[in-house]
Amino acid sequence: MCGIVGYVGDKQAQGVVIEGLRRLEYRGYDSAGIALVDTADGDGRIASDKRAGKLANLEKAIGEAPLPSSTTGIGHTRWATHGAPNDENAHPHLGRVSRVAVVHNGIIENFALLRTELERAGHEMLSETDTEIAAHLLELEVQAGADLTTAMQNVCRRLEGAFTLVAVDAEDPSRVVAARRNSPLVVGVGEGENFIGSDVAAFIEHTREAMELGQDQVVTITRDRVEVTGFDGSPAEGQRYHVDWDLSAAEKDGYDWFMRKEIFEQPRAVADAMLGRHDGSGKLQLDEVRLSEDELRTVDKIIIVGCGTANYAGLVAKYAIEHWTRIPCEVELAHEFRYRDPILTRDTLVVAMSQSGETADTLMAIRHARAQGSRVLAICNTNGSTIPRESDAVIYTHAGPEIGVASTKGFLTQLIACYLLGLYLAQVRGTKFGDEISQVLDELSRMPEHVQEVLDQAEDVYALAAQHAQTRSVLFLGRHAGFPIALEGALKLKELAYIHAEGFAAGELKHGPIALIEDGLPVFCIVPPRGRDELHQKMVSAIQEIRARGARTIVLAEEGDESITPYADELIRLPRVPTLLQPVVSVVPLQLFACELATQMGHDVDQPRNLAKSVTVE
Ligand code: M6R
Repeated sequence: MCGIVGYVGDKQAQGVVIEGLRRLEYRGYDSAGIALVDTADGDGRIASDKRAGKLANLEKAIGEAPLPSSTTGIGHTRWATHGAPNDENAHPHLGRVSRVAVVHNGIIENFALLRTELERAGHEMLSETDTEIAAHLLELEVQAGADLTTAMQNVCRRLEGAFTLVAVDAEDPSRVVAARRNSPLVVGVGEGENFIGSDVAAFIEHTREAMELGQDQVVTITRDRVEVTGFDGSPAEGQRYHVDWDLSAAEKDGYDWFMRKEIFEQPRAVADAMLGRHDGSGKLQLDEVRLSEDELRTVDKIIIVGCGTANYAGLVAKYAIEHWTRIPCEVELAHEFRYRDPILTRDTLVVAMSQSGETADTLMAIRHARAQGSRVLAICNTNGSTIPRESDAVIYTHAGPEIGVASTKGFLTQLIACYLLGLYLAQVRGTKFGDEISQVLDELSRMPEHVQEVLDQAEDVYALAAQHAQTRSVLFLGRHAGFPIALEGALKLKELAYIHAEGFAAGELKHGPIALIEDGLPVFCIVPPRGRDELHQKMVSAIQEIRARGARTIVLAEEGDESITPYADELIRLPRVPTLLQPVVSVVPLQLFACELATQMGHDVDQPRNLAKSVTVE
């Protein structure tokens, strides 16, 4: 939530900051703003502009009233927390005499107290935000003689909550200073220039050398230096890493939406998620699981925590992990987890599922789990993000950057990582024979082709979406591992098309939801493979029941399954795969449908209303 950018170097900061904001806009798009340190007339001053709405509004404004040239600047794209998304509440915020400008991501929890203190001292606040107090406090510090780095350390020690702050001082154009607590921040390390970003997309076109910061750290960038300290001023080290993707991954590449591009990248993403993780002989190698085999043998319960789509990946994983390992596996919404006082021991393995690695609810859940002595393994797509850094072990999903707010390739690669984890546990604990594991790995290695086979039917799915452009309600039914896919299909439609959509376990229908069925209501039905006869037959019965009551059935069934044809108003064929792996292919038409329907309805698919890509507030 909120994208932040900072730059010092020899280029025009305006271009670098605006381009960085464009790449971070998926993190929040309620408003956008920029502040530059203008040194043209010898005396430093802050030149800034900020506008409600998308970045395009800011660009238009600075096109009409250009900002001065400058090589030091900061920028922000907002997902509103405190205060309405209007011009006044947009960032940057300035101090009382406009010497310091600040952008912020997160929530300063004790801001009301600090605001009262400042107002009593005669400071007038121009916005409703929690951020503005940070600008005033920093400015008081520099006016009292501190440099901006020391000022940031002093102010951060007074703040509570979760925040990333980035600031510039009009009287010191040589530096940009940033700080982080519980909120994302990375440094881009360049030649004669350095960058700050919420994530590496902010500076990927300039440098692929990055540095992650720890908790409660302040970083100062100048053209030639990057210096890290703790909030107490003690020297600290950031961790350098090389970003293994380039600018093209952050571009739309001819697609209308990032989401559509990311859907079509899934065959490659699935292949990458498996790359190097098993040898030719069918043995799994998960070197990055830094838990010893002995530790894995003592696990007596697994709890998967995550939110939204990541939670649904966990629900699929439960079917596979319990079946392969016989270890009880619970799946929990991360934001509910710690409040119900879950039973956690040293032998509980908590799996934190998060594409971004920054979801605050999931982060708080793993902190709780570790405090109780449980071990935490993250399944994450974002290198160097907070959740893997705070976990005992991590499996990276290697999907590449996911920019569309709706998760697609993030989800598919989470499924692959879960399958690999389940098989690895089975291998270590001997709950599956080697040849059984090898057989599933063979099936998994064919998944990229199978996903491509589904994508090849995209035009048919688009035609179906075109027929539903006026639809106001859609249901999704699944059973077994298909049930979480019904939930995921519904979530995709809700977040992109803004229509009522519900996913149900097909067996639950007769216990109430069947009352929703009325003439012409579209219902997606995910039919399990025929290999599981009892499941398959029950699903066919459910389809007959809703069709008898007028539902328009859109059936997803495997190739060659003719038993279903008489009850399908529309039929989407899925490749023949084992039941536990079917979610990898069955979710793809639902992603395509939601993307296309939202497009037909004229919605912004990559930036749906009210949402942000990574939810860094609880
Ligand atoms: O980055 P995370 O995987 O932790 O994000 C979790 C959810 O916020 C995310 O999956 C969300 O539900 C997506 N918008 C779904 O498309």
